[in-house]
Amino acid sequence: MTLFALELVPRITRAQSMDVLSSMANIAGYRAVLLAATSLPRVVPMMTTAAGTITAAKVLILGGGVAGLQAIATAKRLGGQVQAYDVRPAVKEQVQSLGAKFVELNLDTGSSETAGGYAKAMGEEFYVQQREQLGRIIAECDIVVSTAAIPGRAAPILVTHDAVSKMRAGSVIVDLAAERGGNCEATVPGETVVVGGVTIMGPTNLASDVPFHTSQLYARNISTYLLHLLALGLPELSLDDEICSDTLVARGGQVVNTRVREAAGLPPLAAPAPDAAS
Ligand code: NAI
Repeated sequence: MTLFALELVPRITRAQSMDVLSSMANIAGYRAVLLAATSLPRVVPMMTTAAGTITAAKVLILGGGVAGLQAIATAKRLGGQVQAYDVRPAVKEQVQSLGAKFVELNLDTGSSETAGGYAKAMGEEFYVQQREQLGRIIAECDIVVSTAAIPGRAAPILVTHDAVSKMRAGSVIVDLAAERGGNCEATVPGETVVVGGVTIMGPTNLASDVPFHTSQLYARNISTYLLHLLALGLPELSLDDEICSDTLVARGGQVVNTRVREAAGLPPLAAPAPDAAS
């Protein structure tokens, strides 16, 4: 048996059309904001009415990857006053290009990004300071959508019990990192809890709420991926190709993927993987 995993598609330009994680994260980011907006006991946009002016809801997006950027765009379209934070400084420009304010914390983020564009795990001291500084901003927000993740690890805690206790009653947190433990200490994966009047949602499969378009994107990702492998000569494997080699998990009775071996606690392979023809 030869096993491939689509969540291992490399984050490179030519693999974008095969990137299942991006497709699902994009829809989840959109959906998270809608969920928050409909659970909030106030409207999101500013409204000037004969009965008085309603101020816009304050929205904070934590993590500016694929889900976070779509959440920002959705919250902006709804008329929210949106700010966003990410540990990778490169995200600042992307946040601003969507018309949101980038939250700058007084932290050294110089080594926060891997060569592949992902966030690195930082030291505990970093997270302590981050939580403390973010707490002050969170207290002012009506909606928090958190999406922060580090590949292969538990999600970092960014919203503490203390921060939740300082939010106004009626505020909503949608924790898209719930599946990996959550970014909020109060998150219960797969459930909605109310703590001190603050609603905290921990959805684990938001993309499935939008089956029409997620299925469409998923089908397109898979067919593009399979056509790519076929063009390379499937069933022969082309391990010179990064997309093929990165997504290959197991063959010849062995887990051959380095990342998967590490995650499963397996030692590195003693000998090089069997060649493509075997
Ligand atoms: P992800 O789901 O792994 O993480 C979400 C976000 O959380 C990331 O932006 C990360 O920097 C942030 N984060 C992690 N720890 C944090 C902390 N302590 N505080 C605040 N934020 C924190 O990320 P995703 O969405 O998978 O994207 C990762 C990178 O890959 C991005 O640079 C994205 O633009 C890039 N990408 C490239 C693609 C391509 O070229 N084919 C396709 C998709 C993503």
